[in-house]
Amino acid sequence: MIKPHGSDQLNPLFVADQQRRQALQQEAAALPSITLCSAAAANAVMLAGGYFNPLQGYMNLADALSVAESMQTTAGLFWPVPIINMVDSAEGLEAGSRVALRDPNVAGNPVLAVMTVAAAEPVSEQQMALMASAIFATNDPQHPGVAAFNGTGRVMLSGPIEVLNYSYFKEDFPDTFRTAVQIRDEIAARGWQKVVAFQTRNPMHRAHEELCRMAMERLGADGCVVHMLLGKLKQGDIPAAVRDASIRTMVDNYFPANSVMVNGYGFDMLYAGPREAVLHAIFRQNMGATHLIVGRDHAGVGDYYGAFDAQTIFDQQVPAGALQIEIFKADHTAYSKKLGRVVMMNEAPDHSPEDFILLSGTKVREMLGNGIAPPPEFSRPEVAQILMDYYQSEAGA
Ligand code: ADX
Repeated sequence: MIKPHGSDQLNPLFVADQQRRQALQQEAAALPSITLCSAAAANAVMLAGGYFNPLQGYMNLADALSVAESMQTTAGLFWPVPIINMVDSAEGLEAGSRVALRDPNVAGNPVLAVMTVAAAEPVSEQQMALMASAIFATNDPQHPGVAAFNGTGRVMLSGPIEVLNYSYFKEDFPDTFRTAVQIRDEIAARGWQKVVAFQTRNPMHRAHEELCRMAMERLGADGCVVHMLLGKLKQGDIPAAVRDASIRTMVDNYFPANSVMVNGYGFDMLYAGPREAVLHAIFRQNMGATHLIVGRDHAGVGDYYGAFDAQTIFDQQVPAGALQIEIFKADHTAYSKKLGRVVMMNEAPDHSPEDFILLSGTKVREMLGNGIAPPPEFSRPEVAQILMDYYQSEAGA
């Protein structure tokens, strides 16, 4: 099976041992505590599940700056996005302090993790801007990822963590939320060798569906893991529960039984385009996938990224051998009126632009917002129905 990133075995930071859990819970009750920002809480959940292997906790400023600038930690680990914990104040904390980290996304702010502080470092506006430009390729405060990044505190609290739970993800998405450890185990149990991962934050439309089918067929894959983001999204994106229902309906109706696993991970969307695509590749490798599909404007938003920047980054900025997982690069996928099916546009050279119906999540959301059911070229009817029901319930609310 494909090895995790940076180590031979996955080292998830979730504390499974009952005695250790009890000891930590007792200790946490007497510790100073900090309520995390949502991004830091999501980082803890990803670390807990093994997705961010081999990291042992939150990065310090030197590592964060190094990762932003050159996609590697000061120790030389290949990593594309700083995994950090920005807080408003770390008063009273110093290297060696123990601190309880509370969950901002669960009522009552229960303890999510316990940390040994390695450093509490103030971050200047210049350093923030430097990191934002490197991660998001823009400093524009209108960019939802930049806005979230700038909205955090200005003290970077780094150090190893032990994580006690998976925030709201396990309770809210019991059938879908899975850790990298669980997915790796499931892939092994199924005996799958070649496994394609599909990243999504949308209900799956025809283009998404066909991308999975094409990748599986062309790679001769044993299976596909549709791996959806379950964390926070920008306004206007379709909520995870609705997306989950749409995807399951599509998979049940249109893929052979047992060829697709539908799972999700607990992380807030960064909208960082190319850099996020590389992070996506790392954590799909950690969960045991051998290939990741990267299509048009992967993890993008607005016009911030070129349509295929998230593909070229793998050729231009990922050093050979840094990743084991391979990228299945897909061209813009659209419905061909001539052929009556979804195709990659570069594979239909005899077509003129009018021969295609361009498929995009944004377009579908626009139609739904106007009370129009997406046509079969866009969405399977079962999926269109779920989405129409959701939009109607929203309109009536
Ligand atoms: S993402 O933010 O999670 O990347 P989305 O769920 O829309 O957004 O996309 C999931 C994957 O499908 C990404 O790899 C994206 O590049 C790809 N994709 C979506 N629509 C198309 C399309 N029409 N043509 C090619 N690839 C597409």
